[in-house]
Amino acid sequence: MSFENIEWIWKNGEIVPWANATVHVSAHGLHYGSGVFEGIRCYETASGATLFRVSEHYERFHESARTYGFTIPYSVAELTEATCELISRNEFKSCYVRPICFMGSGSLGVFPKNCPVEVSIMAWAWGAYLGADGLEKGIRVTVSPWRKFHSSMMPTTAKACGQYLNSILAVSDAFARGFDEALLLDIDGKLAEGSGENLFVVKDGKIYTNKADDSILMGITRSAAIEIARELGFSVEAKSLELEDLLTADEAFFTGTAAEITPICSVDEHTIGEGKRGAITEKIQTTFFDAVSGRDARFAKWLHPVEHFVAA
Ligand SMILES: Cc1ncc(COP(=O)(O)O)c(C=O)c1O
Repeated sequence: MSFENIEWIWKNGEIVPWANATVHVSAHGLHYGSGVFEGIRCYETASGATLFRVSEHYERFHESARTYGFTIPYSVAELTEATCELISRNEFKSCYVRPICFMGSGSLGVFPKNCPVEVSIMAWAWGAYLGADGLEKGIRVTVSPWRKFHSSMMPTTAKACGQYLNSILAVSDAFARGFDEALLLDIDGKLAEGSGENLFVVKDGKIYTNKADDSILMGITRSAAIEIARELGFSVEAKSLELEDLLTADEAFFTGTAAEITPICSVDEHTIGEGKRGAITEKIQTTFFDAVSGRDARFAKWLHPVEHFVAA
């Protein structure tokens, strides 16, 4: 990942050069994490750069902001158009898009009084989050000593900046111990999710994933994987899962905008299934990549070509 090729940033309604997209050190969001964000992927397709499920992402962006009591002053349509303009200006064929809405500079009491709502969108080229090798061979995961916070502590279904300190603790510990990613249990010891991914397990040909009550972010890739799996004829059940369900699974995989569909080959010292990408995971992953790159017409509804944007 590199920010080197970013020329333009969208900031509060305007496209500005990278160097001008700065924030003051007194910004409330910097001190307290008072902001919400999204991660959206734009894929290269035969009809050019194409955003994946962009309206679902911007709807969740608004919903996360509402949960924290602030209003994003741009509609889903305006944000989508801004994103298309930004990608076109940077001339990216494919990229990762990071919209953020945060409390700016105004006061530093914990209550964000008089803080302006700032909105920015960045886009940059970002390959496989957990490595190209990880997509093919699977990754090594560890159960984190850090638990995922419960929704009575923070709204787990919101994608808010400060909430990610929990994920940072977990992933830092996993990396320090030589693993590729952390898996967090919830407050009751049930499976929650990765530091930035939802979890699926496959057992006896059936697919299971957990649900909102299990302290997870309701991933947009998660819902795509469920729909793809059902379209392929698999049974998918959403229910609370125990660690045992993962350790005894035939296959397991993570889903996320950054991580896409990444197989899990081991959890701590336990090998999952045959310790490689499983056959069902591979089918879902292949269909997912066909869907995002416009090769599978069944999922064309998820795609929004960037070229629809026409520069003024
Ligand atoms: C904590 C967490 N869970 C799950 C996900 C997966 O969500 P999505 O598929 O919408 O990217 C993410 C990534 O956004 C995340 O940060």
